[in-house]
Amino acid sequence: MKRTVKDLVGLRGKVVLLRVDFNVPMDENGKILDSTRIVNALPTIKYLSSKGARIVILSHLGRPKGFEIHKSLWPVAMVLMKLLKKRNVAFCNKVIGDEVKERISLLKDGNILLLENTRFYKGEEECDMEFAREIASMGDIFVNDAFGTAHRKNATTYGLARILPNAVGLLVEKEIENLSTVIQEPVRPFVAVLGGAKVNTKIKILERFLEKADTIIIGGAMAYTFLKAQGINTGASIVDDQCLDIARNILQRASDEGKKILLPVDHVCVSKSDRKQAVIQSKKLKGDLVGYDIGDATINLYKKEIKSAQQIFWNGPMGLFEKPEFSNGTLRIAEAIAENRCKSIVGGGDTVSALNHLKLKKKIGFISTGGGATMEFLEEGSLPCIDIIQEKII
Ligand code: 3PG
Repeated sequence: MKRTVKDLVGLRGKVVLLRVDFNVPMDENGKILDSTRIVNALPTIKYLSSKGARIVILSHLGRPKGFEIHKSLWPVAMVLMKLLKKRNVAFCNKVIGDEVKERISLLKDGNILLLENTRFYKGEEECDMEFAREIASMGDIFVNDAFGTAHRKNATTYGLARILPNAVGLLVEKEIENLSTVIQEPVRPFVAVLGGAKVNTKIKILERFLEKADTIIIGGAMAYTFLKAQGINTGASIVDDQCLDIARNILQRASDEGKKILLPVDHVCVSKSDRKQAVIQSKKLKGDLVGYDIGDATINLYKKEIKSAQQIFWNGPMGLFEKPEFSNGTLRIAEAIAENRCKSIVGGGDTVSALNHLKLKKKIGFISTGGGATMEFLEEGSLPCIDIIQEKII
């Protein structure tokens, strides 16, 4: 078991370098569209502050190429100041240098200083140890609470842990605890609901669920590849032809091992030649019909399976969710998962926004803050930036 912030003693007056994942969706005016990741980092920040630590927060935002003003963490700092109004929160527009050192030296016990986007420095993604050492020299302890970035071996997620005494934060602890139940001791029947476009990015997770789940429900564009692999006509729908063998293999393994894989039985689609692009429902996808969402019969079939589950994991939309005319399947599946008050775990951006849209977040057992990190944790059973953290001394 990893050491957590709760295992750290003598924090008063110590400078804690806290890596979080404030990579939040933002519009071009710097308006934060979803602050879940900021809210979920608060328990660790508050805990460290209450113990008198001087907290220096590090995070990346987006994938900037050098300094880009619209990728600044300043808007995040403003939200943080509002959320932590009883505490002293400041922002510094650099990550290293004399000004940062000076600002840290002025911190009082319990105060918080958010530094600028770590990806403005190329040393971050290269995991440059010189860059990491420079940051490490400004702190006493490193705490990693950036679950969403724990699959990226960067200077502030991995490099710092190689240099400083360290621990994981409360969010990382909670993520590990919840996600581990899926791969260690799922309650049965365990239903995995997987959507998304590309089969080849989901192979490992599909294989993992073939071992762990009783039923795998497949939606999204990926479903058309599976249908074609079974010899079913998919019309003009997007099919990943290079993955047909992989899909066949997965279907064969499922049947050999007595696992159920559910695929769509009807579709919400559009005819390519229809100039008006009318949206229709069809049982078969033939000719120039392009499938974009699951149809009503599929929704009912999937809902029935979800209803009987004792544990559910869901990642990925059931259709082209960003377009309202193709969002029904994802929304109805979100409702069904929320209605079944079992141990449900949900991960992934679109999936979570479907729940947000329906104000159903509170009805879900656990919502992971990770995208790629969540999937890699489920696939591999661990993540490099968590692995490197010291073990708890028992
Ligand atoms: C995420 O949002 O998945 C993480 O913050 C990692 O971001 P990245 O994919 O740009 O490395």
